[in-house]
Amino acid sequence: MFEIVPFSSPLGKKPFSCGVTQLDDYFHRQASQDVRRSFASCFVAVTEHGGIAAYYTLSAGSILLERIPDDLRRKLPRYPNIPAVQLGRLAVSVDFQGIGLGAAMLYDAWKKSVDLPIGLYAMTVHAKDEKAAAFYAHNGFFSLVDSQLDLYIPLALCRKLIAGA
Ligand SMILES: CC(C)(COP(=O)(O)OP(=O)(O)OC[C@H]1O[C@@H](n2cnc3c(N)ncnc32)[C@H](O)[C@@H]1OP(=O)(O)O)[C@@H](O)C(=O)NCCC(=O)NCCS
Repeated sequence: MFEIVPFSSPLGKKPFSCGVTQLDDYFHRQASQDVRRSFASCFVAVTEHGGIAAYYTLSAGSILLERIPDDLRRKLPRYPNIPAVQLGRLAVSVDFQGIGLGAAMLYDAWKKSVDLPIGLYAMTVHAKDEKAAAFYAHNGFFSLVDSQLDLYIPLALCRKLIAGA
């Protein structure tokens, strides 16, 4: 029903509305530039009719070790920063919300991230509000110690969730 493809400029000109103006504007006005400059990669779910159903972005990031909850932090090497991939944005069109597409986009992002040939411990995301944070928590993410809106999921857990899907 949906095909997930890399962002291209013609896709960025198509209508898309997820109900959050900043995320719609990013797709139409900024994604193209970020992709061209390699500040982000962007992947788009396209309908069989060529419409835009959802998109997400990935960039390199890191997590300060001190922001990881105690019980996990004790098991990690004492480096100040933990290598992570940042899920910069995730948005599903209002026409397709609530049918599992957001979760499918997350899985796609996990699959791409676990296969990258670089050292990455986790995926991070900054949720725009508590409702978005609840979506990420429901789908396997944990909050960092100092902010309910900043969440992470170890990629080892993503591998297990992908294998069990
Ligand atoms: C948040 C968003 C990405 C969720 O995508 P979606 O396609 O509507 O969600 P899905 O249908 O894939 O839901 C997958 C699961 O998450 C749950 N879920 C969805 N939204 C949730 C929420 N706000 N809180 C808790 N759980 C939620 C669903 O119940 C479903 O659970 P299940 O697998 O146990 O049945 C989408 O609604 C959206 O784009 N909203 C506007 C933009 C936004 O807020 N983006 C987040 C940016 S930080």
